[in-house]
Amino acid sequence: MNHLVAPSVLAADFANLQKDIEMVNGSRADWFHVDIMDGVFVPNISFGFPVLDALAKHAAKPLDVHLMIVDPDRYIEQFKKAGASNITVHFEACTHLHRTVHAIKELGCTAGVALNPHTPVAVLEDIIDDLDLVLLMSVNPGFGGQKFIENTYRKIRALKALAAGRNDSLLIEIDGGVNAKNASTLLDAGANVLVAGNFVFTAPNPAEVISQLKEIQPHVLQA
Ligand code: DX5
Ligand code: ZN
Repeated sequence: MNHLVAPSVLAADFANLQKDIEMVNGSRADWFHVDIMDGVFVPNISFGFPVLDALAKHAAKPLDVHLMIVDPDRYIEQFKKAGASNITVHFEACTHLHRTVHAIKELGCTAGVALNPHTPVAVLEDIIDDLDLVLLMSVNPGFGGQKFIENTYRKIRALKALAAGRNDSLLIEIDGGVNAKNASTLLDAGANVLVAGNFVFTAPNPAEVISQLKEIQPHVLQA
């Protein structure tokens, strides 16, 4: 499949959110990546439902909601109502992950599980068949603009191997420090969804940067 690009709204200009939403709408981006942080699971608070409602009102592309919150079960229905297409919960925040994943699917959303940089992909061994997406954190969650963690490449390959023959349509999403330099190596390793926050929104022409990320090919295809 051609890879997807999901600009992270966390890096948008919240005083001009509509302008940035329209930019994404008119760009080659596939999804809006929406980071929800509660100040408990991660040491930062992003935004809640009023901002999400405003975003959903203008967004013309699917909302990929990344919940960095404790006890996400309490809110998944509200996120579905707010317009989420995909809901991703953290492995580290879910005691009953199987139940949570199926609750997300029963609401009609696709279900993702995110892993922190220190969490091995092997923890997904008994749930990999049930997932639409696995999000590998390539920075510690909580903030945009951090440095990409190189071990992510190895993790992508391990995840590909785990999913092989069991869930070949699994989406492998990489989140944190993604840019035009590491993107093709990420695709080489098996990633198929690239989240990018600062790399897109700090650029003079963000739509062009989105296009650049869409154009990037795995090295293997370029040879
Ligand atoms: C971090 C968030 C990311 C973040 C990525 O906790 O999950 O989605 O917005 O931002 P960049 O691309 O700037 O690292
Ligand atoms: Zn995210």
